[in-house]
Amino acid sequence: MKTINIAIDGPAGAGKSTIAKMVSKELGYIYVDTGALYRTIALFLTENGIADEDIEANIERADVSLRFIDGAQRVFLGDRDVSDMIRTPEISMAASRTSAIPAVRAYLFETQQKIARENNVIMDGRDIGTVVLPDADVKIFLTASAEERANRRYRELMEKPGCPTYQEVLDDIIKRDYQDTHRKTAPLKQAEDAVLVDTTKLNLEESAAAIVKIITEKTS
Ligand code: DC
Repeated sequence: MKTINIAIDGPAGAGKSTIAKMVSKELGYIYVDTGALYRTIALFLTENGIADEDIEANIERADVSLRFIDGAQRVFLGDRDVSDMIRTPEISMAASRTSAIPAVRAYLFETQQKIARENNVIMDGRDIGTVVLPDADVKIFLTASAEERANRRYRELMEKPGCPTYQEVLDDIIKRDYQDTHRKTAPLKQAEDAVLVDTTKLNLEESAAAIVKIITEKTS
């Protein structure tokens, strides 16, 4: 049976994962956070001290997999659940850099397509609508201004020890946007047939409701 695939792409901090989780819960789809896959590869490369020129020869050893526990995605490196430890600013930056390497993208391409073939999914990332699922039933490009995205990230980080300043968070977002949109392989860009949703002035509930409406209209 053909599965239903929804692609949500957009820059860091647009609220993709929180909103996509809310939408998938409401519609009963599996939510796939592809950024977690890139983060896990970055962790693997860092932990094993693998240089860029050796990635292609070693990537198959990474053994990255997703498991869905009570409907929630957990990401594994071998037998180790690394879902929480990949959320540091260091891994964010490393993932942004190593995700530009074609061998990394090729390795994760098949993983992502297989999940979408087997499940009704809402998959979020940077190149889902353009490269991974070009035939997705619905494509959304979710964005917000860099300042608003930095604000949101800063509010999240404020509660944790060693919190960076607002300016550092904003600089990080601008740098990651630049890296993600300017890389040669699968850069972040809106697919021609994607619907643009700008959440700068929307709260989470309003954003999720806007997306549920788009999906319902397009799939009914
Ligand atoms: O969404 P995130 O912040 O967890 O993603 C981490 C990095 O991974 C991001 O800087 C770009 C990269 N990424 C990608 O290149 N393609 C995807 N489909 C998802 C993430």
